[in-house]
Order: sequence, then structure tokens, then C-alpha cells
Amino acid sequence: MEVNPEKREKLKNFYFSIKDCRKCSLGNTRMNFVFGGGNSNAAIVFIGEAPGKNEDLQGKPFVGQAGKILDSLLESIGFVRSDVFIANVLKCRPPQNRDPEISEINLCKGYLFKQLEIIDPAIICTMGRYSTRLVLETDQGINTLRGKVFRIGSRIIIPINHPAAALYTPSRLQLLKDDFIRIKTVFDKISQRGLQASGKEISIDIIPAENISGQALKSVDLQTAQDSGKISAGNEKKEQENGRPAGAEADKKVPADLKNVQGGSRQLGLF
Ligand code: URA
Repeated sequence: MEVNPEKREKLKNFYFSIKDCRKCSLGNTRMNFVFGGGNSNAAIVFIGEAPGKNEDLQGKPFVGQAGKILDSLLESIGFVRSDVFIANVLKCRPPQNRDPEISEINLCKGYLFKQLEIIDPAIICTMGRYSTRLVLETDQGINTLRGKVFRIGSRIIIPINHPAAALYTPSRLQLLKDDFIRIKTVFDKISQRGLQASGKEISIDIIPAENISGQALKSVDLQTAQDSGKISAGNEKKEQENGRPAGAEADKKVPADLKNVQGGSRQLGLF
């Protein structure tokens, strides 16, 4: 994946403009603002839920157990982190790894959308229910949506289970592997690589996102949706899918000197 110095500069400047955010109370409890990292010119952006303990300490996304699974899934299709960009719905860790609140998502989502605008990826892969609901604007569950490929304008959206789901339900790992093969197939189709090599057309059904059945949340603010009961973290079978184990251990005090000041693109994990 080629580096695009202009996009990298824009992302870096954007980071510096938002890194001290205190729009919600998570700004008071975080160790580090987790902007996201990877290639600023990536064709694929992966979106998780929110930083966990390790991410909060290191200021980088997906550096814990779920991150290891994500790395191995990327590797299974021939990618490394610097080929893609990885971000989260929330930039700051919710205390005790609790679920993100709708008000927090509403205050933070503009940062993610701006990142997407700068990177301008062809493919957005939403991992887990929060990013999937936010991007596809639907209240449908991830288990209904995964396995399908959607389109919003010229962008392809591929919802998948959160990698951490495989930590708690091992059978999810095979689903994730299948989904990564689907991601690679779509990527090859878009970049016209692989297809020529294999000489065969792989057919993937691409569903316009506005055709998602069920209660679409188009142009409905998430806050309004929650108030009206259309969206709620408790709607689906609850499982700890975010890879951010809750508990007292998670909130142990960390010396202040671990709050590293981040500088250049490399330190920021931007390529
Ligand atoms: N889970 C997430 O959703 N994001 C991370 O960065 C780490 C774990």
C-alpha cells in the first residue's frame, strides 16, 4: 500500500486538533486518547468498539488479545497493519470496559467520520455491533448482517464479528476467517488483482445499505434512536465481544509517566 504524504499530514493535524478532547467524561478517566493507526491511504479501514486497558495504556488500537486475533486474521489474507487503518467508534476507554453509551458515541462519531473522509477507503469493515450499527444506521444485529456485503455510495461496507468474540466463543473464529476471505475477495475485485491471476470471476452480492430490511435508523440521531428504544446495547444476546475484560484489575492505577507524549507520524502509527 503506497504512502500518501498529504493524507498522512491531514490525519496527523487532525490528531493534534482532537487529542485533548474533553467532550465527554471519558476524557477525565483515560490514560491516552486512542486515535487509531495504520496507513493513511488504506483501501480498508477496520472499525472496532472502544479502547480497552492495553490500548488505553499504549495509545494504540487493538494491542491486546483481540488485537492478536486481528493480526492473525490480517496475516491469513496476506495483510499487515501498515496495509490497513484501524480505529474505534470511541477514542477513549470506558471505565471498567463498560459498553459505550449512546451519548458518548454521538459526541465521538464525528472524529471517526472525519478520519474516514480523509482516508477515503474503498472498504469499511465494521467489527462488532457498535461500529456496524453506526455505519449501516440500522438496529439489526451483527449476526444477521455478517456474511453480507453492503454498499453506501461508492463505498463497500463489510460487517463482521468483533475479533474478541472468538476469545469467548471459539466457533466464531471460523466465521471470522470466512469473513476475512470475503474481505480479500472484495478487495481483489476492487483492485482487479487476484481475479486476473485466478482467471475466474468471483460473484459477491452487494446490497445497497438503504435496502437493509428491519428498522433502519437512516437520518435518525442515535440519541433519538435510543430514547425511542430502537437501539440499545441490550437488544442482542449480551456477550463480552469487545476484548476488554471488565473488572477491578482493569482499573489498576498506572504511573503518570506512562502517559507518553506522541509526536510524529510513526509514533502515531501513521504510514
Ligand atoms: N476492542 C476494541 O473494540 N477496540 C480496541 O482497540 C481493542 C479492543
